[in-house]
Order: sequence, then structure tokens, then C-alpha cells
Amino acid sequence: MADTLLMIPGPTPVSAEVLAALAEPVRSHTGDANATTMREIQVMLRGLVGSDAARVHAFAGSGTLAMEAALVNHAGPGDRVLVISHGFFGDRFAEIATTLGMRADVVRAEWGRHASLQEVGVAIAAGPPPAIVCITHVDTSSGVLARCADLARVVRDGAPDAVIVVDGVCATGGIEESMDAWDVDVVLTGAQKALGVPPGLALLAVSQRAVRRRAEIGTVRSYYADLARWDRSVDDPRVYFSTHAVSMLRALQVSLDGVVAEGLEERFERHRRVADALREGMGELGFAPLTDDELLAPTLSVLRLPEGVDDAALRRGMAERGVVIAPCLGPWAGSGVRIGHMGAITEREVARTLEAAAMAVAD
Ligand SMILES: Cc1ncc(COP(=O)(O)O)c(C=O)c1O
Repeated sequence: MADTLLMIPGPTPVSAEVLAALAEPVRSHTGDANATTMREIQVMLRGLVGSDAARVHAFAGSGTLAMEAALVNHAGPGDRVLVISHGFFGDRFAEIATTLGMRADVVRAEWGRHASLQEVGVAIAAGPPPAIVCITHVDTSSGVLARCADLARVVRDGAPDAVIVVDGVCATGGIEESMDAWDVDVVLTGAQKALGVPPGLALLAVSQRAVRRRAEIGTVRSYYADLARWDRSVDDPRVYFSTHAVSMLRALQVSLDGVVAEGLEERFERHRRVADALREGMGELGFAPLTDDELLAPTLSVLRLPEGVDDAALRRGMAERGVVIAPCLGPWAGSGVRIGHMGAITEREVARTLEAAAMAVAD
């Protein structure tokens, strides 16, 4: 890793192997080498999201494009979208839905707390069945790890045909996800967080239920993000729809090879271990999680500043020592900091972060 250690909750540091992949000669977007890369990515991402049957899309863009694609392909203007929001990124789903002319209803949890399952059930029953229900697996603003299985069960009880969308941007690759077991329809993510690749890819795993919904809708209000237009190149990556992000895909393949070599269980366990170490060390310096204890995510920590420690001064002091962390958002801005610990992060980077934090606090 380079001299500056990126401990923000994405983008995350990238391994030397992934950087080396980015330096390889550019390939043809319709050639066999890229097709092999794409097919391997599809298989490995299916493993990460827990669905052998999911269709995997990987195109140039970011997490927000994946969110937009998850909405625009599965509902039309006027359709009801129910958003279960645990913070800034949950609310973004509602903004996208409204922008697309859909009707967005939001069950909004208090920051740092979990949405009430009962309120979700009531919201579903209160209107026409939602075409789409959105859940953010880990909201990077509040640090809340959503109870996806419980939420999906409540949604299925009240709205059996809903397309359930899970935003895995701050989770996929660092926390177990089980599309089939949860009976959810889309898990989306970007490359730059727990997958340990630079920003630049929008990734979606899509269920057969969602594929049927897309077919029923006919024309959708997007060209590039229309998953049906990408379909032939998902089946055969040598078929052109829009130029594949060949170098980014190669970097993702190398990163996913590393995920497979590490082992999924081992990787998820490392994320839990590293999170515990970071929180324990920061706890000794007086930083306590703003997020409810039982909702803490293995991928990032959102921590309250101790009395007398200034947000900007702390982050500046740590940056001067080569460690970059992030400010809080929304109602917590100024009263806490966010530290990412996902992807390639190990105990070594946590130790360096704790050292920088201790010195900056002492200052
Ligand atoms: C949970 C979550 N969802 C969506 C996004 C949006 O992704 P992007 O910034 O890649 O568009 C982010 C970005 O941090 C995120 O943390």
C-alpha cells in the first residue's frame, strides 16, 4: 500500500496485484480475453451474493448508476417504490425513484437505529403493492447493518411480487449476502469498497423474477442503464452493446481471484476481526460508536468524537501522519468520524490508524 493510507469508507486501498492488473495493455472489448474475464467475474460475483442463478451485469459507472439501473428496469412512472432508509444512501433511492417519476414512500429509521419491521409491514399494506422495495445492506452514513433477511421476509409476506433491491455498496465482498436464501431480486454494488478495486464499475446481480419484470415493462426510460440492452453481452461478452470497461474488469477479476483464494468465510471473519480491533483501539481513545451496538457493520465504524476533540483538527492531524478518515454526514456532521475497514484492510492498517489517531488526539 502507498504512503497515504485510505481509511475512508470507500474508495479503499488497492493491492499491488490489482494495480498491476490496471497497468496491463488494454484489450479488445469484444475479444476472447475480456470475455473470459467477464465470465469468471460473473461466476465469482454469484458466489459472493449467494445465488447460482443470478444474471450478473458489470458496466462502467458507479454505485449510484447501479441503484438507478435497479429502479429504472423494474418499475415505471407512477409505480410505488418503498424505501427502507437507514440514512443518506437509503434516502438516495427515494430521490432516484422520484426523479424517474415513481412514487417513493419511505420508512425512515432514526439515524443509527433499525427500521421497525412492524412499520415496514404497515407501510406495505397502506398503499398499492410496491413494485420495488429498497434496502441498504450497510448505510455508509449511519453505519447501520440492516437485517436483510428479516426485512425481506416482512416484504414478501405483504408484497409477494415486489422486486426487492439490496444496495450492497458498503457490504458486498465484506459481509455474507444470500440473495436466494433471503429471496431478494437485486444485489448491487460498486467496485471501490469491500471488493478492493478503484471506483469505476457498476455491478448488479439480478434474479429471474426481476428479469421477468423487466420484460413485462417493455420500454424503460434509460438507454445505457437498460439491462435488457446489455443482456446479449451478458450471455456472450464478445457481443457489443457498449464498450466494456476492459481494464477495470481485469482489475476486478484479479481482486475476486484474491477473494476466492482467501476463502469467503475467512474473508468475512477477517472483516469482523478487523472491525473489533479498530473499535476497541478507538474506544480506548474515547471514541464510541454512534450506531446501535447490535447493528454495527464489519465494514466501517461511525464514531462519536470524545469531549474536546475537534472533527476537522483530528482528521487534519491524522492526514498529516498519512491516514485519511472521513467526516460524518447529515445530523451527525461535526460530532463524529467515519473509518472504513473493508476490502484489503488488515490488522496492520488498523494499527497504523490507531497510532495516528492517538497522536492526533494528544495534539
Ligand atoms: C451504501 C452506498 N450506496 C450507494 C453509494 C453510491 O455509490 P457511488 O458513490 O459509487 O455512486 C454509496 C457511496 O458511498 C454507498 O456507500
